Amino acid sequence: MLLRRNRRLRTTEATRALVRENTITPNDFLVPLFVVEGKGIKEEIPSMPNYYRFSLDLLTTEVKALWNMGLKAVLLFVKVPDNLKDNKGTEALNPEGLMQRAIKTVKDAAPDMLVMTDIALDPYSSYGHDGIVKDGYITNDPTVSVLAQMALSHAQAGADFVAPSDMMDGRILAIRELLEKEDFKNTGIMSYSAKYASAFYGPFRDALDSAPGFGDKKTYQMDFANRDEAVKETLMDIDEGADIVMVKPGLCYLDIVRDIRDVVDVPVAVYQVSGEYSMLKAAAEKGWLDHDAVMLEQLTAIKRAGAHIIASYFAKDVVKLLG
Ligand code: PBG
Repeated sequence: MLLRRNRRLRTTEATRALVRENTITPNDFLVPLFVVEGKGIKEEIPSMPNYYRFSLDLLTTEVKALWNMGLKAVLLFVKVPDNLKDNKGTEALNPEGLMQRAIKTVKDAAPDMLVMTDIALDPYSSYGHDGIVKDGYITNDPTVSVLAQMALSHAQAGADFVAPSDMMDGRILAIRELLEKEDFKNTGIMSYSAKYASAFYGPFRDALDSAPGFGDKKTYQMDFANRDEAVKETLMDIDEGADIVMVKPGLCYLDIVRDIRDVVDVPVAVYQVSGEYSMLKAAAEKGWLDHDAVMLEQLTAIKRAGAHIIASYFAKDVVKLLG
């Protein structure tokens, strides 16, 4: 006689719902937003169907819509005009720069929206690299001091969290120390602590026109063959003062997410990146995959692996789907 029948707990949707271990809610998400100069601009990113760059006036409308859907946190990225790019990140520190104005725009549109900002030099770099280039090398320490200034500038403009995505050594400590010194004690740091040199970032670089002008990012972003190194990077960032740590990309890196979740005592974020979004959109357009079903399965898998927070271009789609 069978005493344990596992299928009993799968008999009806009500039973399945009762015993479900992981669910998706609007509280899980960070919504990435791409911002451009200009007026009246809502332009679709060619390699990211149904995802847009917004000028500040239309960013207001978008942010209000997100807030009304229950999405309460955004992650801001800016597309910087070419004539403002250099090798020092000068424009990144402009108190009237696009990012600094975007932060204020979001806060005006939805005062309780949590605002996170990307900290890295690539959108500002004439070389399309995340740091200052010298003799063909992406320097570390000179870059870190600019990144810390950049984080301070975003905090001054009203950012709640800064999110360094550059993978330089020691940047979390430098940012934390400067924020403390300048009395931004409650400005958080979400560190992209295990960020891999990934080919899945392609569509994002189209969105911001930020592809590297020479070489690749393998001297600072991690080698995708490595697993133990992700734990080392993450623990070091926590020691340096990171409030939230992140694994990026998402789906191909769920082993890393679980390793990290098992050893840290801070929230773990996962970035489901642009290429992951575009792959599903393309397959769905061809009628090869069921968009909504696969989206929900992938996002749930990211949570199941151990994510507390998911940065995803699907945030609006999934919240609409869940009603
Ligand atoms: C900038 C940055 C990148 C992403 C987030 N911040 C691109 C990169 O490192 O080249 C990628 C996000 C995505 O692909 O969705 N440093």
